[in-house]
Parts: sequence; structure tokens; C-alpha cells
Amino acid sequence: MTEIPVVDLGGGVEIPMVGFGTWQMQGQIAYEAVRHALRVGYRHIDTATMYRNEEQVGRAIADSGLDRSEVFVTTKLPPGNAGRVRETIADSLKALRTDHVDLWLVHWPPRSRNLVPLWQDFLAVRDEGLTRAVGVSNYSVGQIDDLIEATGEQPAVNQIPWSPSRYDEALLAAHAKRNVGVEGYSPLKGTRLRDRTLAEIAAKYGVTPAQVVLRWHLEIGVIVIPKSSHSERIEQNLDLFSFSLTPEEVARLNRL
Ligand SMILES: NC(=O)c1ccc[n+]([C@@H]2O[C@H](COP(=O)([O-])OP(=O)(O)OC[C@H]3O[C@@H](n4cnc5c(N)ncnc54)[C@H](OP(=O)(O)O)[C@@H]3O)[C@@H](O)[C@H]2O)c1
Repeated sequence: MTEIPVVDLGGGVEIPMVGFGTWQMQGQIAYEAVRHALRVGYRHIDTATMYRNEEQVGRAIADSGLDRSEVFVTTKLPPGNAGRVRETIADSLKALRTDHVDLWLVHWPPRSRNLVPLWQDFLAVRDEGLTRAVGVSNYSVGQIDDLIEATGEQPAVNQIPWSPSRYDEALLAAHAKRNVGVEGYSPLKGTRLRDRTLAEIAAKYGVTPAQVVLRWHLEIGVIVIPKSSHSERIEQNLDLFSFSLTPEEVARLNRL
């Protein structure tokens, strides 16, 4: 099975650079999709309390026969739950059938006066071992700086919308400087897959435009979590290791 590259989040935690997104899948569809993803080699599943599928994700992991330590599990605190941090993680762990997740994210920044207290609560939950790492989602660099200034601890990742059309070299550099991993979401939704440049590069390697977009994330060091409810696409979206992009192709995609 393909070796998926990882990003070191510190503290002995490594996140596989390709994960499986699960937004907008629920019930049996979510269960079957995660089962298939694990069957074909994904070892990183991205869910959230808000997605209302943690129970199906937990059951799929349990039924996969994989050891819990082989699967990297991310979930997220919903907006509005800043005052119910402990209840929320307890509910997530129960639904996911585990005693810890690998990464817990603040799904959206809370109102500014709650920004630092919520981060302090997250660090405490991590220190108690309920999650191996903590991070944020949809945060600005300024908000990240507020967390670092107050606690001396940076989020392990910031999960943000990312795709060639959103490429922002300065934003990547700002995260790198603070040692915050960039995890991109909506890589395919954020892309016009019929774009001519994409089609040309895809034809050269005998892959699909979607695969070119996902491979581009890996080339620039961005963690990517494509979602699909179709077996064939679930497989295709992990099949990124039999080709690579030249620096010129990466530069063309950066300008897409
Ligand atoms: N932190 C946040 O605020 C946030 C926000 C949005 C998303 N996310 C996370 O990021 C994950 C990915 O983002 P996303 O779900 O918004 O969008 P995405 O993964 O970019 O795109 C999913 C869409 O692309 C289609 N698709 C999948 N593979 C394809 C392929 N190979 N070729 C053509 N189309 C393909 C899917 O259709 P089918 O399912 O029909 O195949 C679905 O309609 C989410 O599932 C979620 O885990 C986080």
C-alpha cells in the first residue's frame, strides 16, 4: 500500500498529508464512504461535531479492523460551543468510540474576547490526553498571533480553504514562520476542474484534473482532505504517488 507522506506536528504527532473529508455525508453514506476510504489506504479522517457523522465515522473505524493508532482522526468544536468545551469533546469521543482524537480544531474563531480563553481550554484538554494535538480552522494570522502571544503555543494546524485559485504565497510563508501547518479544505470545490491548464497537465500524466489539484497541494506542502461519496473517486483522490509535477507546472498552477 502507498506510503502517504506526513507533516510533523511536534510532540511525536505526525499527520498524513492526504486525509478523507466527510462534510455533507451522513448516515449509511458516511459509514460506507469512510469504510471504503480506510479499505483503500486512507489513514486520516476529517470530521466535525457539526457534520453530524461522528457516530458513523467511529463505527467505520471500529469495523475496519485497523488498530486505532493506525488512523489519524480529526474532529472540531462547533461555533457557539466555546463555553462547553469538555462536554463537546466527551460527546465526540463517545461517538467516535475512542478515548482520544489525534487533532481537535476550533471550527471557527469565537468572538474576540473568547479567543484566548478557548485556546487555553484546548491546551488543557490536550494536556489531559483527550487529543494528541490542537489546532484551529478559519483563523487569520492575526488571530493566531493573539494565541501565541498569550500562551506561547501555536496551533498545530490552521484548516483553511485552499486551491490553486486561492494560492497565496505570503499566507503560506506566514504559517511556516509560526510553525503552523496549513491544512487545505474544499480543494476540488474551489477549482474549475475544466480549466485548460489543468486539463493539459492531467493529460500529460494520464491522470484527472482533480488528481493534479490534489498533487499540487503535496508539492507545496499543504495537507489536503478531499471528500467523495463515490468509491472510484475515493480511490482516485488517494492515487497521487505515481506522478509528480515539475516546478514549472507548480508555478503555472500557482497562477491559475
Ligand atoms: N474547517 C472548515 O470550515 C471546513 C469547511 C469545508 C470543508 N472542510 C473539510 O474539508 C473537506 C473537503 O472539502 P469539501 O468537502 O468542501 O470539498 P472538496 O473535497 O473540495 O470537494 C468535494 C466535491 O467534489 C466532488 N469530487 C470528489 N472527488 C472528485 C473527483 N476526483 N473528481 C471530480 N469531483 C470530485 C465530490 O463529489 P462526490 O462526493 O459526488 O464524489 C464533492 O461534490 C470536507 O469534507 C471537510 O472534511 C472543512
